[in-house]
Amino acid sequence: MNVLLLSPGYPAEMPEFARGLAEVGATVIGVGDQPAEALPERTRRALAAYVRVRSLFDEARCVEELRAELGGRRIDRVESLWEPLMLLAARLREALGARGLGVEATVPFRDKEVMKRRLDAAGIRTPRHVAAHNAAECWEAAERIGFPLILKPIAGAGSADTWRCDDADELRAVLPRIAHVPVVSVEEFVDGEEYTFDTVTIDGEVRYYNVAWYRPRPLLARSNEWISPQVIALREPDAPALAGGVAMGLAVIAALGFDTGFTHMEWYRKADGEVVFGEIGARPPGAHQVDQMNYACDFDVFREWARAVTAGRFEARIERRYNVASVFKRAHGQGTISAIEGLEELYRRHGAAIAWNHLLPVGARRRNWKQTLVSDGFLLVRHPELATTLAIADEIGERVQLYAR
Ligand SMILES: Nc1ncnc2c1ncn2[C@@H]1O[C@H](COP(=O)(O)OP(=O)(O)OP(=O)(O)O)[C@@H](O)[C@H]1O
Ligand SMILES: [Mg+2]
Repeated sequence: MNVLLLSPGYPAEMPEFARGLAEVGATVIGVGDQPAEALPERTRRALAAYVRVRSLFDEARCVEELRAELGGRRIDRVESLWEPLMLLAARLREALGARGLGVEATVPFRDKEVMKRRLDAAGIRTPRHVAAHNAAECWEAAERIGFPLILKPIAGAGSADTWRCDDADELRAVLPRIAHVPVVSVEEFVDGEEYTFDTVTIDGEVRYYNVAWYRPRPLLARSNEWISPQVIALREPDAPALAGGVAMGLAVIAALGFDTGFTHMEWYRKADGEVVFGEIGARPPGAHQVDQMNYACDFDVFREWARAVTAGRFEARIERRYNVASVFKRAHGQGTISAIEGLEELYRRHGAAIAWNHLLPVGARRRNWKQTLVSDGFLLVRHPELATTLAIADEIGERVQLYAR
């Protein structure tokens, strides 16, 4: 099996996916725009070859460079687990004759308007939505949808350029701030809790799934620096309260004709129990949520994903032993991390439940919390009981503090 893996060194989880592929016996050919020497050590060990292209974001040129570089070598799979490269992967599959989603099948995963129209046609409950190309169309959409509403790019990520507007004054204030976005999705604001439905799917059949709970909702977490956002992989995704979301997830995968690999869907549950679709990606979630799955089940889902895409099998036994919470921290102050408070106390009280300390160390430069949910790092808690998991996660939010100077 010859597998092209796009951007094998970035983001942070990619070395693990590269390792997984190598471990199941694939010949992994990395494709990236960074020099080979700059790749993480783990990635380099997993790669049989590396093709450096000028830019991963010049798709047409990238296809030509690879065609020339590979010189007729057979490519069985082209894999990308990073949102901005999904269409490049699709184009490469078509150009190189590899199996997997082509361009037409990928577009509904990239364009949130096409996505929702496709799902509407399949009878799935999406937020009422209208695509708008300019301010006048946004006003028209607001007229039709009513307040409160959400404005967001049709191909956004990380809640960038996403705004909630509760009335006409707020819409007037937001419009100039999104003038640079070519097409926005204007949506009914859905009030409720927000969850994921993540899968490893093989030939359209879901073989493993994970439901995570965002606490609080991502837009709130991204708008308030003082919040320590939590993502909680739930031990009981089959609980009755989540059944509507799981059923929706399965229906969405079928409606979009996804074949093999990771998927990451987000959905809302309103106070009255109604379940509403949020969005779906043909890739795994970020922010180390795939690692969370491993901590929840004590298996290696990076390797199982690799087995799924290369051999059409998922072999690990799925036994969900823990709830797993990641608690992301944002330091007080700017510049370089100067102190971390509350860690010793936390370990003394709950050491056995703290599975991973991935906080930035003292001396490291702060990250931009608006650009990455990972922020200044996280602590990962796991416990069989959800209430205990939440209590420890909240304690981390309140009592573990990072300072920067
Ligand atoms: N219709 C809506 N009703 C309520 N909240 C919404 C709606 N659309 C988006 N949001 C909020 O904005 C956040 C970001 O929106 P969305 O997930 O569509 O975009 P994104 O930028 O791709 O997100 P990310 O990459 O962070 O997953 C959501 O997680 C949710 O909190
Ligand atoms: Mg989202």
